[in-house]
Parts: sequence; structure tokens; C-alpha cells
Amino acid sequence: MTSKPHTPAAIRLAKIDELELDIEKLVAGGEGFGRYEGIPIFVPRSAPGDRLRVRVTERRTDYGRGEIVEILEPGPGRRQPPCSHFGNCGGCDLQHLEDGIQTELKAEAVRETLERLAGLDSSQPVEVIAGRSWGYRLRTQLHIEREEDRAVVGYHARRSHTVVPVETCPVLVPELEAVLPRLPEVLAAAGSRRLDLAVGGDGSLSCAPKVEGLPHGELSLEVEKLDYRYDARCFFQVNMELLPKLIECTVGEATGEQAFDLFSGVGFFSLPLAGRYDRVVAVEGERIAARYARMNARHNHLENIEVVHRAVESWVHQLPAAPERVVVDPPRTGLSRPARERLLERRPIRLTYVSCHPAALARDLKALLTAYRVEEMTFIDLFPQTAHMEVVVQLVEKRA
Ligand SMILES: C[S@@+](CC[C@H](N)C(=O)[O-])C[C@H]1O[C@@H](n2cnc3c(N)ncnc32)[C@H](O)[C@@H]1O
Repeated sequence: MTSKPHTPAAIRLAKIDELELDIEKLVAGGEGFGRYEGIPIFVPRSAPGDRLRVRVTERRTDYGRGEIVEILEPGPGRRQPPCSHFGNCGGCDLQHLEDGIQTELKAEAVRETLERLAGLDSSQPVEVIAGRSWGYRLRTQLHIEREEDRAVVGYHARRSHTVVPVETCPVLVPELEAVLPRLPEVLAAAGSRRLDLAVGGDGSLSCAPKVEGLPHGELSLEVEKLDYRYDARCFFQVNMELLPKLIECTVGEATGEQAFDLFSGVGFFSLPLAGRYDRVVAVEGERIAARYARMNARHNHLENIEVVHRAVESWVHQLPAAPERVVVDPPRTGLSRPARERLLERRPIRLTYVSCHPAALARDLKALLTAYRVEEMTFIDLFPQTAHMEVVVQLVEKRA
């Protein structure tokens, strides 16, 4: 007996162990998408155009998920993944796709998410920016497991907390990748289960927490004639080459009296904003990042920056009505409801939203588009070989 199309996918897939599937497209999150008798099926590490034999691994009400058993016909753009850890390591999602088409497919997936969830106009022009595909990351987070007197150092496996040991990681800048083979020995006696590493503009290294045998001091990096100081303990944008582009499309050309940089980190956008606005207020919730933001303002001689070390949620009621310019760059979860509602109430004339998570951005944009129009939108591929994409949206108040 064949089940009816409105029967939940989980029931229709219950007795199916393997199926054949054509992958139609990539979706946000990096998985391939196909339909089996109308049921949406998501398959990690698949490529648009692939014909696959798939084992069903998840059966949900509206969809299923599967893993590749056999590639019956590869899609155009599929390749042998260059890194030997791909497949086990959870760090990268897209190494099986040619570098050139990754950005294009991710951009399509992000656009589709924003149209479907935020009601973004499908005719909205989007600029897509990409840089080098390998050797770009200036910061990474490693996990450590102990095996007798040895340390296993690497990344978590996909959807698991098992550590996949790595001695190479070609998305890292060479100075960072070069330290990986030393880590099992250096960390043999260390107690921590996590190690953050970052490099500066001159290739020097910083680690957190402190480990004997590795430097942990302050780093510095010049971007657009501004000298940024940071260390491995705080957030800093990861893509060394695209830092100037990210500043350019976020800060833009606008000038004025006052700008607010919410979720400011070490002041990555506050510093260039201070060259365009008479006064900048930077709000950052993390103590060390806020301290660096103050230090960065000081040693770049930008006396017009005030750094507030507060959670945006507890500060946002101080935002004046109709401020000229607000930049928000929240964590992956996007804006909290109080922050979103307060922003809508105070109605900045120009609001710039920098996002690393399209679904969270879509939720926030849906609310913001009641009062704003999109002036410009840029997708920046800050994270090649992974499913992530940075999105910068320039919003202008509709009445402005
Ligand atoms: C995506 S990072 C952006 C940082 C900065 N704009 C940059 O480009 O380097 C988000 C920042 O928000 C901070 N943060 C997270 N939640 C926060 C909150 N509720 N209030 C204030 N800051 C927060 C984090 O510490 C982090 O520095």
C-alpha cells in the first residue's frame, strides 16, 4: 500500500532504509536538498546535480535526512576533497565542491532563506564578495582529549564531541597551521579541554588559556591604516584578507554627528566609524573585548569613541530616539527580542546589520522590514570550505 502525500514524512520513510535521490540545490547550513516522492531530504556533503544512493538517517514530520552510500553520478563541480580530514572533521562542510562554485551556491542558499523567511524582495540586488579559498583564517578553536599521557588535539567531528586529531588544517593562515604538529606535545600536561589560537599581522601567535611553551600575549594587526590590538581570548573577525572589504561595506561612506556600534567587540567597526562621525558609542558585553576596544581607541588617537561595557539588552533603552546611525553585529543567535523591539521603537535613520547566521538575520529582518527598506546588501564569503556566509545589510528608515 502506498502512503498518501499528506501522511507525515516520518511514516512514509519508516520502512525505507535506502533510496535514490537527485540533489537539486544547496541550502543554508551547507546540506544538499532533494525530494523523494515529494518528501524533502537533506544530505550533508552532497552536490547539486549529484545522483546518489542515500541511507535514511533521520525521519521527521516534514522531512528526512540521509547520508551518502554511493555517488551514482557526480554533479558538476564535485571534486575530491583536498584535505584528508574532510569527512571526519566537523570544521568544513563544502570541500567536495570546487572553490569557484561554493560562493555562488552559498549565496543562492542565503538569498532563498531571506526571501522565504524574511519576505525579502527577490529582485533585491546583492553584491557577492569572495577572497582566497585557503589559508585565510587568523583564529581557530581546538579541542583537547586526554589519552593516558598523550593529548589528542583537533576539531570536533560533525554533530559529535569526539575529537578528530589534526596536524594540518589548510584553511588556517600558514603561521597558524604551522603550530598544529607541536600541540600534542605542548599540551600533554595541560588541564584545559579547549585551546583558542590567534595570530597577528606579523604572524606572531597568541593562545588562551595560558599554556607553557606557547605565547599568550597581545597581538596587533593593521587594517586600513588602523592598528587593532586583540588576543586569543576575544572575538576578532577571522578572514585576514577580507577585513578591509568587511569594513568598507559595513561602515560605508555615510558621515554625521553620532553613531552607535552595538556588539562592538574590540572596536573593529567603531574605529573606522570614528573617522566619519563626530562621536561613536561602542557597546560590548565581554570584559576583555571592551578593554581592548578602549585601548584601540586610545592608541589610534580616536578620542571621540566612548566604550560601554554592558550587555546590549540592558543598555539599549539609552539609545536616543531616531539616532543617525546604528551598526549591529550580534552573535549567531541574532538580536534578542528586547534589543530588536527597542531598535524598532527608537528607529535609527540608518541601521547596518552584520550577520553570520542567515536564519537569525531572516527572523530579525522580517520585523525590521516593517519600518526599513534595504538600501544595499552584500554577501561576503568570509569562511570558504564551510557553509557559513557573512551578510551585511544597509537599512534605511522608510520615512527618511
Ligand atoms: C560577532 S561579534 C562582533 C564583534 C565586532 N563587531 C567585530 O566585528 O569584531 C559579537 C560580539 O558581541 C559580543 N556580545 C555577545 N552578546 C552580547 C550582548 N548581549 N551584549 C553585548 N555584547 C554582546 C561578543 O562578545 C562579541 O564581541
